[in-house]
Amino acid sequence: MSKTPSKSHGRLSIQASAAPRDLMGQAKSVRGAFTAKIITLFPEVFPGVLGASLLGKALQDGLWKLDTIDLRTFGEGKHRNVDDTPAGGGAGMVLRADVMARAIKFAHGRARHPLVFMSPRGRPFDQAMAERFSKEDGITLIAGRFEGLDQRVIDHFGIEEVSLGDFVMTGGEIAAQALLDATLRLRPGVIGNAASLEEESFSAGLLEHPQYTRPADWEGQTIPEVLTSGDHGKVAKWRRDEAERLTQERRPDLWAQFKRDFP
Ligand SMILES: C[S@@+](CC[C@H](N)C(=O)[O-])C[C@H]1O[C@@H](n2cnc3c(N)ncnc32)[C@H](O)[C@@H]1O
Repeated sequence: MSKTPSKSHGRLSIQASAAPRDLMGQAKSVRGAFTAKIITLFPEVFPGVLGASLLGKALQDGLWKLDTIDLRTFGEGKHRNVDDTPAGGGAGMVLRADVMARAIKFAHGRARHPLVFMSPRGRPFDQAMAERFSKEDGITLIAGRFEGLDQRVIDHFGIEEVSLGDFVMTGGEIAAQALLDATLRLRPGVIGNAASLEEESFSAGLLEHPQYTRPADWEGQTIPEVLTSGDHGKVAKWRRDEAERLTQERRPDLWAQFKRDFP
């Protein structure tokens, strides 16, 4: 591991070069807009899928703001190194505590909103977490790379570790976009039809019922009769029964939780 920080670091003009990028030419910014800050080695992959459809429109309308902070800018020496070999040996590289700390201080400062490191070791992301994050005024996300991030910086800043699931990706950027997508769609005004959020999977602790639309007969398969009966009470009961059936079949863990919450 290289121990001595490069002398060039002191001359690094972080403020000038690390200014968050204005990603969508955001003309508007609504009061109380949610601010998403992402510390990443790949700022060019943002907004990515978040720039499409409803979230893209909400970004342009100023309902949320996106700042990417290029971790490279805070690197050491002429080559702006951000990583080094793992203490104790072994494969791969680890993101340096000092480099990440500079980026966090710049990006997060004294913000009171959550500071999150996307990490397979973290608490699994779920709808309850998305709801919690959506009530904040913003979030700072760290997208990891290599073998991960030096533990000392995680401990020092009290960083919350969040996982997208029990699998390993090459970097945290996709995980950050997934977290933001699920969070931002819960913000007021982002999705036109708020009622559609209420019936979704997980909102009542159950998976969603099956959905159908036209044509009424497709390749000999028809829509369940009750859905075209016009009887709203029967439709609601059918949906509820199907949601319970699917949850029992597919997610015994969720079903057990549901039975505990609503005995
Ligand atoms: C190759 S992974 C590091 C995996 C790490 N060595 C481990 O075994 O836990 C590089 C980065 O991708 C991101 N990443 C990979 N899988 C992820 C997941 N399931 N959820 C969230 N972030 C993930 C994290 O930011 C991680 O630091």
